[in-house]
Amino acid sequence: MKGLLFLFFSILLMDLITIALFLSPLSTAVDPTPEVGSAAWYDAPYTPNACKIGEEHLAPDGLYAAVDEGLWNKTGNPCGSKVQVRCIEGPDTCHYGTNLTATITDRLQQMVSEPSSFDVRLVLSKKAYGSIADSSRDSIKVQFQLL
Ligand SMILES: *[C@@H]1O[C@H](CO)[C@@H](O)[C@H](O)[C@H]1NC(C)=O
Ligand SMILES: *[C@@H]1O[C@H](CO)[C@@H](O)[C@H](O)[C@H]1NC(C)=O
Repeated sequence: MKGLLFLFFSILLMDLITIALFLSPLSTAVDPTPEVGSAAWYDAPYTPNACKIGEEHLAPDGLYAAVDEGLWNKTGNPCGSKVQVRCIEGPDTCHYGTNLTATITDRLQQMVSEPSSFDVRLVLSKKAYGSIADSSRDSIKVQFQLL
């Protein structure tokens, strides 16, 4: 009897550990750790986009971002989330240390406009990119963080 009770509680404990392990990555779905990568730019049209955000619902500041598949998957549904982007090179490429916050509206692999480079983590709207870099550059090195 004692043995059975022990077995029962052991199984219960193991289940609880399994549930805890399973739930822990979900509680940090958006990883706030800054990452380093490249960013490109794209021009209008910004619709249709992977987030199905219509022209009239795009952020009025014109600061949008498309994320690569890795970031898209990592965040689950990043649509409407903000990403803070900071130039970490320069001064000939972008303005070192300057940053911006853009709204995620698209997925790199689904964009209707062609990005200046495909080999990047983020693609910024022309206005967003232009606020920290010269658009004669196809891509810049940035540090970015999902907010
Ligand atoms: C993203 O998720 C899709 C669907 O689950 C998968 O096919 C694809 O390989 C993933 N891509 C990356 C870069 O993780
Ligand atoms: C730029 O970075 C600073 C310091 O991290 C932060 O306080 C500020 O809000 C950022 N600005 C934008 C536009 O993201």
